[in-house]
Amino acid sequence: MAGANESCTDAPEAYRPLCGLDELPDGGARGFCSSGQGSDDFFVVRRGDTVVGYRNCCPHNGVALEYRKDMFLNAAGTDIVCYAHGAHFDVATGYCTYGPCAGESLEALPIRIEQGRVMIPRTIAWGSGGCPGNKGWS
Ligand code: FES
Repeated sequence: MAGANESCTDAPEAYRPLCGLDELPDGGARGFCSSGQGSDDFFVVRRGDTVVGYRNCCPHNGVALEYRKDMFLNAAGTDIVCYAHGAHFDVATGYCTYGPCAGESLEALPIRIEQGRVMIPRTIAWGSGGCPGNKGWS
């Protein structure tokens, strides 16, 4: 089943596996880091068979959202949260519903699911993007 923000026009070979769907906690989030140190470059959130992904960069001040590894959601798991100033983002769309960047959005990544694997575009390879304020980015 495809992720919610999949682009159907991309060729399959334009994608590479990120992890297995079963490696993501259902209802939870997981970040991925290109350098192995510092903040994660992007993160994904799983809801059943649907996975959405976003660049780990708050539109308010351009910093990473999480306060510690994989902590991208509020306690109830209903919203993505930036812990710098408390902005809340809709999980499905990345749209900021509350906080200093209300009305702006996280940058969505075109995630897809193929044969139980979470796939990301090869153009989002390690180190190809991210948030200027994140440690570990050059
Ligand atoms: S940096 Fe994210 S809410 Fe301010």
